[in-house]
Amino acid sequence: MQEDFTKRIAIYPGSFDPITNGHVDIIKRAVRMFDEVIILIAYNPNKNYLFTVEERMEMIGEIFKDTQGIRVDCYSGLLVDYLKISGANIVLRGMRALSDFEYEFQMALMNRRQTKRIETVFLMSGFKWFYTSSKLIKEVASLGGTVKGLVPDNVNQKLTEKFNTNNIRG
Ligand code: PNS
Repeated sequence: MQEDFTKRIAIYPGSFDPITNGHVDIIKRAVRMFDEVIILIAYNPNKNYLFTVEERMEMIGEIFKDTQGIRVDCYSGLLVDYLKISGANIVLRGMRALSDFEYEFQMALMNRRQTKRIETVFLMSGFKWFYTSSKLIKEVASLGGTVKGLVPDNVNQKLTEKFNTNNIRG
């Protein structure tokens, strides 16, 4: 059966622990391309995260409170199952360096193997965000370094609170 791609709903899944300006850039570009973008905090209940799902949802909701065509949700199951529930047909992922490629390729093919009704679409990361990752952000922030400008202001604030630092270097 031919799938109906007339309403282009894209899911942008990730851990977003925390969301970075690299993610924000991808989302802002995606809202121009799709009818709706669902930012999906995909979490594993057995994994440790810095921020709770609620904190991550709140931060993301705040960042996009004035942007049309965006929904924020969370899910702990298989991405392909969420796609079925939500009626989405596109998985959106950002791609930074070549090093992202293998992991992304594996996930896209594994998802594809489970359902043919989805397409994974990649957007190249903005040049400015090429080296930005949630993992590095956490490491730098935890050691008292500055991540100002790499994450939205509300996230920077939350990181400062979490690590009880004052970003003394900027
Ligand atoms: O931001 P991340 O951590 O690189 O995102 C990875 C994520 C959340 C997209 C991936 O782990 C995922 O899709 N998890 C949901 C569970 C699932 O479907 N796993 C199989 C992926 S092939």
